[in-house]
Amino acid sequence: MEDPLLAWRDQFPILERTTYLVSHSLGAMPRAAETRLKEYTDTWGSRGVRAWAEGWWRMPLTVGDQVGRIIGAAPGSVVMHQNVSVCQALILSCFDFAGRRKKVVYEGLNFPSVMYVYEAHRALGAEVVTVESDDGITVPLERFLAAIDERTLLVPLSHVIFKSGFIQDVPAIVRRAHDVGALVVADLYQSAGTVPVDVAAWDVDFATGGSVKWLCGGPGAGYLYVAPRLQPRLTPRLTGWMAHRAPFAFETGAIEYADDATRFLHGTPAVPALYAAQAGYEIVAAARVEAIRAKSMRQVQRLVDLARERGLRPHAPERPDQRGGMVILDVPHGQAVTRELLRREVIVDFRPGAGIRFSPHFYTTDDEILRALDETRQILDSGSYRAHEAAGGTGF
Ligand SMILES: Cc1ncc(COP(=O)(O)O)c(C=O)c1O
Repeated sequence: MEDPLLAWRDQFPILERTTYLVSHSLGAMPRAAETRLKEYTDTWGSRGVRAWAEGWWRMPLTVGDQVGRIIGAAPGSVVMHQNVSVCQALILSCFDFAGRRKKVVYEGLNFPSVMYVYEAHRALGAEVVTVESDDGITVPLERFLAAIDERTLLVPLSHVIFKSGFIQDVPAIVRRAHDVGALVVADLYQSAGTVPVDVAAWDVDFATGGSVKWLCGGPGAGYLYVAPRLQPRLTPRLTGWMAHRAPFAFETGAIEYADDATRFLHGTPAVPALYAAQAGYEIVAAARVEAIRAKSMRQVQRLVDLARERGLRPHAPERPDQRGGMVILDVPHGQAVTRELLRREVIVDFRPGAGIRFSPHFYTTDDEILRALDETRQILDSGSYRAHEAAGGTGF
């Protein structure tokens, strides 16, 4: 079958050597990232300190606008930070828990780093309420909606669940939250770049995500969207001179916030990361997320079908429209099988309590999916995973 997205393959060097099915963790590096990083060192080397005025200082906004085009955010409503955890902490620093509205509601399958940020605010009065999953895969929407009430301040949810690929109904949750005066923070890390996102149409209050995964932008480039209608009302306590209305006046004392989204910045930005990340945003935008999603739905179904045919059990939503870009397979000896797959240049990862995560992206061929599943079956049947059972190591 004709697949025009495969034309992008030669832009990703690692695809020449590996079966790369790990874009839910680290998207493949586009060649243009090297060019961008060279541009960064050339600029630093030739322009020196003048580089700040010539673009570096505004990069958290100009690069934010590039992300904005992918997630449906208006220009000037996205700023760049280092990662999601910092963005969540920055959002929280706009609020307090002194009044009646002190509940934070999210799913039990939320990304742990996000939980750590909110849990730590129990010390300041936050009441964290977790909506548990019945099957470890899906989040019960009715129970989620029912947990959001007049005492709820924030709903920091994951659009796509990192441990199962389940897509949550963000617009429904936003409607419920707004009906009772609560605000929604959508973590788009596992969706933006593979599942279409439209923060403006969904009327989300805040959104955040990073560039490491489906956006193929590498580490150090997290983004924060704040709905334009909210921006003037918010005064983050996690702040710094970039958020000041006149940073180069070096006024002492309390901050006077900028009128625009720069009020959601703090100190000096991670300029090299912002250079590298642009390569990913450009290629994802050019490939178009709608086309990526159509291909992803087809390949995810192929993965599920081929896995079942090989006696491998998907830990994934039943409904295709509720599946994001990854498929988790609940394979026995998952950790050791993953290590053997990596040794065979099939790049996947393992999450305890879930299984081995496989992710086709727009650069993946159908044959690569077949190869990965055949290798998995062969590793189980031959027992070659056993050599890895005693090994320690990290979760990457
Ligand atoms: C849903 C989700 N949120 C957040 C993160 C990462 O958070 P941070 O950018 O703070 O490292 C990940 C994955 O690493 C994730 O899957």
